[in-house]
Amino acid sequence: MTTLTVLPKAELHCHIEGAAAPDLVRRIAERNGVALPDSLFTADGRYVWNDFQSFLAAYDLASSVLRRPEDYRDIMYRYLADCAAEGAIYVEVFSSPDHAAAVGMSYADHLAGLIAAIDAAKAEFGITGRIIVTCVRHLGPDRALEVARTMVSEPHPYVVGFGMGGDERQYDVADFLPAFRMAADAGYGCTVHAGEVAGPDSVREAITRLPVTRIGHGVRAAENPRLLDDLAKRGIVLEVCPGSNLALGLYPNAEAHPLRRLVEAGCRVTLNSDDPPFFGTSIGKEYADAASVFGLEAETLRRITETALDAAFVDDETRQELRQRAAQFAYQPTS
Ligand code: HPA
Ligand code: ZN
Repeated sequence: MTTLTVLPKAELHCHIEGAAAPDLVRRIAERNGVALPDSLFTADGRYVWNDFQSFLAAYDLASSVLRRPEDYRDIMYRYLADCAAEGAIYVEVFSSPDHAAAVGMSYADHLAGLIAAIDAAKAEFGITGRIIVTCVRHLGPDRALEVARTMVSEPHPYVVGFGMGGDERQYDVADFLPAFRMAADAGYGCTVHAGEVAGPDSVREAITRLPVTRIGHGVRAAENPRLLDDLAKRGIVLEVCPGSNLALGLYPNAEAHPLRRLVEAGCRVTLNSDDPPFFGTSIGKEYADAASVFGLEAETLRRITETALDAAFVDDETRQELRQRAAQFAYQPTS
């Protein structure tokens, strides 16, 4: 294979509910006795959606089959195994307690499955996994604060960060300050989706109002050179998900996507898969496309992994171990 295969990779932005492949979701639905509408899948077994809103609805529906700790364990284990097989050494997944709560699952139960998978994948594939607990913006600030409160009151060493996804056109980002403040004060790293379906002002607001060191997506900051400059100067890390952006139609084609411009402006960029089966992508594909479609050099891709490890919400000892692994990385196919 190409030299790309031997590049160590790290991913900071993937929603675990959105990482569940359709076949696995169908199997879990069956064993839980949950009926899913046929309209969720195409004839050849892919998820059906056609814009951001219908993507969020399909995502909610697929997530609704997850009812037991082993369901979370199974999707997390498969995701970690797939990432390791593509040369990833570290991943942080977003996990949404609101999705678990919507089907009557406790925070502790949904977490237990994820933790079991992280332990198993570390032992079997050497990959390190961590969890960012996320609130859902369109569910509002009260729910967000409740999610932060639960996270802080039931800590686990694998839960390292707090984030927010959902529809960024709803509410003011400042409405969520109490939730982010609670998480940040308790020592959790913070990231927020901005500059994806809303424009550069949403990124400006996010970095001004919330205690975040990273922005989920942030690509639309490229529409404002001054903002790009500020992001670079402040060292804000962008969790860029090109495959997701193209699949959702934020940009008509790869030439129009600002990945290269963000890198050239000196922004700290990472590459991520967001919701891999929904967008027909994976962390390996994101790195491969960054080289073959966007023309990034292998050296830039190495730097992207270094940036992800620098920005990971892990303790210093784990970060040192990961940097060492990246430096000595020798690709071992796991299957
Ligand atoms: N944006 C916002 N919310 C999300 C996404 C996304 O790309 N994926 C899952 N929830
Ligand atoms: Zn996302």
